[in-house]
Amino acid sequence: MTYMRIAVYPGSFDPITNGHLDIIERASRVFDKVIVGVLRNKNKSPEFTAEQRVGLIKKVTAHLENVETESFDGLLVDFARAHGAKVIVKGLRTVNDFEYEFQMALLNRALDNECETMFMMTDSKYSYISSSMIKELAGYKGNLEGLVPSEIIQYIKDKYEQ
Ligand code: COA
Repeated sequence: MTYMRIAVYPGSFDPITNGHLDIIERASRVFDKVIVGVLRNKNKSPEFTAEQRVGLIKKVTAHLENVETESFDGLLVDFARAHGAKVIVKGLRTVNDFEYEFQMALLNRALDNECETMFMMTDSKYSYISSSMIKELAGYKGNLEGLVPSEIIQYIKDKYEQ
């Protein structure tokens, strides 16, 4: 029997940043398959639609053969189970992320005791980046070079020029 190690990397990705991409690339080397799960967000009002967010991620992960991206609604553990994934990958940027992520990992394991959360430390050069910060910067026409993948910079700029 072949056993595939499948992981889900969830988030809002509104929009994807170089910090997210770094985690996806590293996870793709550890797992046979990585499914990037884009939350459709009932509570947050995202700047980019779920389709746009998925499209941007697909564009910047096209070089990674074992990475797939799709959007989801509902519980993360259900999304993971539906894809045969037993691992949730999350990135930790600073200690500030820890408490919330620790709670989420415990909650997800309480919901599905076969579901493990594994953390990757975000590369220090990306530890200060967040999607909100990218949006704020784009709103002020700031330089996004080095913060988001270069192939989507123009798309983000255009969104703020509309
Ligand atoms: N590099 C750069 N930024 C990062 C990062 C990294 N490696 N890791 C996290 N971030 C940023 C994100 O961009 C985001 O920034 P923002 O707040 O400015 O948008 C912030 O850190 C928080 O990221 P994250 O913790 O991944 O939250 P999220 O809102 O992107 O995603 C889900 C949260 C989708 C994982 C979570 O809400 C979920 O699982 N929802 C499904 C419902 C569910 O099952 N809930 C649990 C039971 S009730």
